[in-house]
Amino acid sequence: MALADFLQELDELAAAAQAAFEGAKDAAEVEAARIAFLGAKSGKLKAAQKGLGSVDKADRRTAGMRFNEVKQLVEAAFKSAEERIAGGGGGTTQSAEIFDPTLPGKQPRIGKLHPITQTIEELKDIMGRLGFSVADGPEIEDELHNFESLNIPADHPARDPLENFYLATAAKSQGGPLLLRSQTSTVQIRVMEQTPPPIRIISLGRVYRPDTADATHYPMFHQMEGLLVDTKVTMADLKSVLRLFATSYLGHDVHIRFRPSFFPFTEPSVEADMSWNDNWIEFGGAGMVDPHVLSAVGYDLEEVTGFAFGLGVERLCMRRHGITDIREFYKNDVRFLHQF
Ligand code: FA5
Repeated sequence: MALADFLQELDELAAAAQAAFEGAKDAAEVEAARIAFLGAKSGKLKAAQKGLGSVDKADRRTAGMRFNEVKQLVEAAFKSAEERIAGGGGGTTQSAEIFDPTLPGKQPRIGKLHPITQTIEELKDIMGRLGFSVADGPEIEDELHNFESLNIPADHPARDPLENFYLATAAKSQGGPLLLRSQTSTVQIRVMEQTPPPIRIISLGRVYRPDTADATHYPMFHQMEGLLVDTKVTMADLKSVLRLFATSYLGHDVHIRFRPSFFPFTEPSVEADMSWNDNWIEFGGAGMVDPHVLSAVGYDLEEVTGFAFGLGVERLCMRRHGITDIREFYKNDVRFLHQF
C-alpha cells in the first residue's frame, strides 16, 4: 500500500473514533465504540495495524510512527469518554472503578493556633480558676506608665534609650516620648488608676526589649502580669499562688524556688526559678507592691496591701513542651509549629 493511502486511512480512523467516543451517551455506547475501534480481534485499529505490513518497506517507519500516534489518540478519546460518563453519575461499572468510596479520605491540612497563643489561653484558664480576671493594656506606652508610676526614676538604667524601643516619630507629636512597653507591669498601673481595690487581675501580652536573641531571650516576648490588691495580702499568698500556678501548668513534679531580688515597684522582691533538667531557669519576677506605687494611685495604705508578678510566657511554654531554644517560636517553620 502507498504511504499516502495508509496515512489517509489512519486520519479517517482517528476522526471516526473521536466522533464515536465524543458522541457516546452512556456506558454501553462507550463500550460499543471501544469494541469497534480498540477491540483486540476485529477493532479498526487492529485492522490498520495489519495494513501496516503492506506499506512499502522504505515508508514503514513513518507509517509506524503515525500509527502509534493515532493509537494513543483513540485510547485517550476512550479514556475521556469513560471519565465523562462516570463523572455524570452513570452508576456503571466504569464509574465504580474511578470513585472508590471505601478508600480513606484525604485529610485537609487545618491551621492551628500558634503555641504561644495556645499557652496564653491555658494560662488564662488556670488563673481564671484562681479568681483572676483578664485586663488589657496598650503595647505603645508613655513613660509615665512604663516607668514613673512604677517608681523607675529618670536616671534609672532601665530607662536608657539603648535598653528600650523608643518611637522616634511619636516623640514630638504626642507631647512626650512613647515606647514599646518593656514589661506588662504597665497594666498594673492602668488598672489601679481606673479601679478601686480589691483587685485580682492578670494581663497577658507582648513586650519588647533590645535583647540579643539567644536560647532563652528574644527581643519580643510575652509576659503574664498578675496583680492582687486586697486587705491582709501577704508574701505567703504570693508564694502560694505562684506555686499553685506552676504545678497546674507544669505538673506536680516541678520545683520552684524564690530568690531575693530587686524591682523598683515591689518591696520585698523575688525572682522565681523553675527546675528543668537538673538546672534552675528563671521564669518571672514578683514581690509585694511597693507602698509608693499604691499611694500614687490613691489607695489607702492602712487598708490594703498587694502582690504582683510578671512571668515569661515563652519560658513556661518551653519547659512544658521540652523546647530548648526560644527562637523556634518565631522562625515560622510549620514543621515545628504543626506539632502543637
Ligand atoms: C519584669 O519584667 C518585671 N516587670 C516582673 C515583675 C512584675 C516583678 C511584677 C515584680 C512585680 P524581668 O525583667 O525579670 O521582670 O522579666 C520577667 C520574665 O520575663 C523573666 O523571668 C523571663 O522569664 C522573661 N524574660 C525577660 N527577658 C526576656 C527575653 N528577652 N526573652 C524572653 N523572655 C524574657
